[in-house]
Amino acid sequence: MKKPRVRHELPDVRWPTREEAARARWFSPLAIGTRVVAEQRTWVPAMVPWRATEDGFVTEDVLDWYARFAEGQPGVLVVEATGIRDIPSGPLLRIGDDRFIPGLRKLVDVVRERSAGHTRLFIQTIDFLRVNRRPDPAKFFERYLHVTPDLKDRLAEKLGDDRWLTASEAEVRARLAAAERPIIDAVLDERDRESLDYGYRERVWDLHLPHIRELPRVLPSLFAEAARRAREAGFDGVELHYAHAYTMASFLSRLNVRDDGYGGSREQRVRLPLEVLRAVQERVGRDFVIGIRYLGDEVITGGSNLDDAVWFGVQFACAGADYLSVSKGGRFEDAKQPKIGEAVYPYTGESGHECMPTVISDERGPFGRNVPLASAIRAAVRAAGCETPVVTSGGIGSFELAESILTRGEADVVAAARQTLADPDWFRKIRRGEGHLVRRCEFTNYCEGLDQHHKQVTCKLWDREIDPEDRTVRLAADGRRRLSAPPWRPPED
Ligand SMILES: Cc1cc2nc3c(=O)[nH]c(=O)nc-3n(C[C@H](O)[C@H](O)[C@H](O)COP(=O)(O)O)c2cc1C
Ligand code: SF4
Repeated sequence: MKKPRVRHELPDVRWPTREEAARARWFSPLAIGTRVVAEQRTWVPAMVPWRATEDGFVTEDVLDWYARFAEGQPGVLVVEATGIRDIPSGPLLRIGDDRFIPGLRKLVDVVRERSAGHTRLFIQTIDFLRVNRRPDPAKFFERYLHVTPDLKDRLAEKLGDDRWLTASEAEVRARLAAAERPIIDAVLDERDRESLDYGYRERVWDLHLPHIRELPRVLPSLFAEAARRAREAGFDGVELHYAHAYTMASFLSRLNVRDDGYGGSREQRVRLPLEVLRAVQERVGRDFVIGIRYLGDEVITGGSNLDDAVWFGVQFACAGADYLSVSKGGRFEDAKQPKIGEAVYPYTGESGHECMPTVISDERGPFGRNVPLASAIRAAVRAAGCETPVVTSGGIGSFELAESILTRGEADVVAAARQTLADPDWFRKIRRGEGHLVRRCEFTNYCEGLDQHHKQVTCKLWDREIDPEDRTVRLAADGRRRLSAPPWRPPED
């Protein structure tokens, strides 16, 4: 049954006085790993802004993006998902070769300077598999359809004509290109049907593909080298991206049916993620923070749930992960069908909604919706004797909510992505007792829509403050949106 859709108002909030804020847990320090202390438990999780060069290098716009977050002086800022391979991946940051280090070092310097040294800086490292755009059907039947003997069998049966058993490949392609949908549905196998309707997408359990079979052999050193480069660039740590729709999350998924020792049971699904963690630890040493972001629940049929996540969390903590950042959903499996020529986007289905909840929700609403996952994982990690900090995120946009999560011991750190995008200064405003100045996120996901179409990410609230006379404002490529939040300077700074 589809969940009821309810539109939630932003809750009224009470902001703390300066004195209350000074006593708040959210603004109290936290040790992460052996050498790093975050000055506060405020945290900006990874957000891809689509501002790197096509070759994956840091640009002035990337520097501006992180500088603006740094001005808000969060305890921790996590740089966007950054590719560990040296392969073209559009304007996403990359860390798959030493030539990326100088740009990343500039990014580190800018954050140190603009946060006045108050913010610790991690970088999220990611591997992802191939996802093609949804093809034009004519092109799909002409080029991509796998014409196999089984497919010819099904075609002959469906059409009641044995001549198709021996028909040429070209004839089969032409017949199917002209076929009605019920014929296509009966004849194409599930994967080809998916390739036609959504675009071809690799799975970690596609063991017939040599490069997929090899993943357990290549990924540990790719992640380890990426972490080494992050260290050389001056970051305080790396965050291994084991969440959402990407390679490592798919190894953890219950859907992972690899039969080579890296799929099936929980023990086997967590094996590569643990081997990657170990390889990174060995490469960079234990005084460099190595955190893990992963899913408390995949929110897809047949996927991993909180039981798995609790168990994985204990494994990661016992293996020495320095923090666990718990996310939710964001999978390809339930994503909406893309338009022809576009790629499937993993934040469009129910699991995507759980990842970045909006005000159009069920009765429970979006605010702090994912906290129970972090809370259960934290309890299990503590019961296993580990003090590993647990980070929660998802629909958190007020001091009261953040502070209550910490007070109840549901998490050790409260992260806010979209609220910090809407107002990067909000942590400082609250600390100054000026919470009434906070530009509050409306949780309607205009920013996520831009991400979906690989456009430079901005917040719709910033554009209300463009002064047409101000020539210093940098605008997005479409010339209509400001690229960073309007400046804010506290009076005595
Ligand atoms: C534009 C945008 C880009 C994002 N990019 C990433 C990413 O690179 N890595 C990641 O783990 N999460 C990413 N996220 C998810 C956020 O880190 C966060 O988990 C999610 O937005 C829920 O938190 P919030 O309600 O505070 O926004 C992104 C979110 C947005 C809005
Ligand atoms: S665009 Fe909307 S959802 Fe995104 S940060 Fe701004 S107000 Fe929040």
